[in-house]
Amino acid sequence: MLAAGDRPVYASGECEIDLARRELRILGSAVPIGGRAFEILEVLAQAAGELVTKDELMNRVWPGAVVMENTLQVHAAAVRKALGPYRGLLKTESGRGYRLLGEWTVRPYHAARPPVGLRQLRATDELAGTNFPASLTPLIGRSAAQQRLHDLVSAYRVVTLTGPGGIGKTALALEVARRVGAEFAGGGWLVELASLSDPDLVPSAVAGALRLRLGYLPKPSHGPSPKRSCCWFLTIVNMSSTR
Ligand SMILES: Nc1ncnc2c1ncn2[C@@H]1O[C@H](COP(=O)(O)OP(=O)(O)O)[C@@H](O)[C@H]1O
Ligand SMILES: [Mg+2]
Repeated sequence: MLAAGDRPVYASGECEIDLARRELRILGSAVPIGGRAFEILEVLAQAAGELVTKDELMNRVWPGAVVMENTLQVHAAAVRKALGPYRGLLKTESGRGYRLLGEWTVRPYHAARPPVGLRQLRATDELAGTNFPASLTPLIGRSAAQQRLHDLVSAYRVVTLTGPGGIGKTALALEVARRVGAEFAGGGWLVELASLSDPDLVPSAVAGALRLRLGYLPKPSHGPSPKRSCCWFLTIVNMSSTR
């Protein structure tokens, strides 16, 4: 029997939904999945195969927010993409909601290892903040694109904007990043890669923007970290040319 507040691991075949580490694993490897898409999986796993209505999902995953149906669909698509060959486990009940199919076992989480983010990296300072440049003028005519991009970055871990130079990629990315970064405990950070000549410099450019010391291990006395405390929202600006 699980106690209230337990963060168990749900397992079905080769899939595991680990609520303590906030990981979806397939064959033991963590699969990239956006934070809110994971929360949808969490709610569905806890429902143990029962239908979760669209309203209930929206209330649980976006409490107090007005959510468009399209946003839910974008996140359901992200869950399916993350599940890969097991995408069929997410069942849409047309017009009603979603349920998670399959036989799932529930086992308590044994905190043998701290979450990956805490083992690998530790900030030298409190990081909550941002280095985004201030917005000088509002974007003109990009409201649909902003909403779409906002949905995508909440559903997926990595989103790429491509297009010809000057079309407005950086401006759009920064506008959305200013809003989304505030939702992350570690803040939102801009990493500029355009001036780098060597791909090997990318990790140190990212670490520099985050003011991290690479490879630093925290002392064991460090207490549990607040939810999402080692999550940052990164906006990486790059420029490449094809000849
Ligand atoms: N929707 C927009 N409204 C107003 N200015 C914009 C808009 N999109 C881009 N710009 C401006 O156009 C210029 C080029 O945009 P930028 O985002 O740098 O393009 P890209 O990153 O695609 O090369 C910048 O000065 C930017 O502020
Ligand atoms: Mg740009």
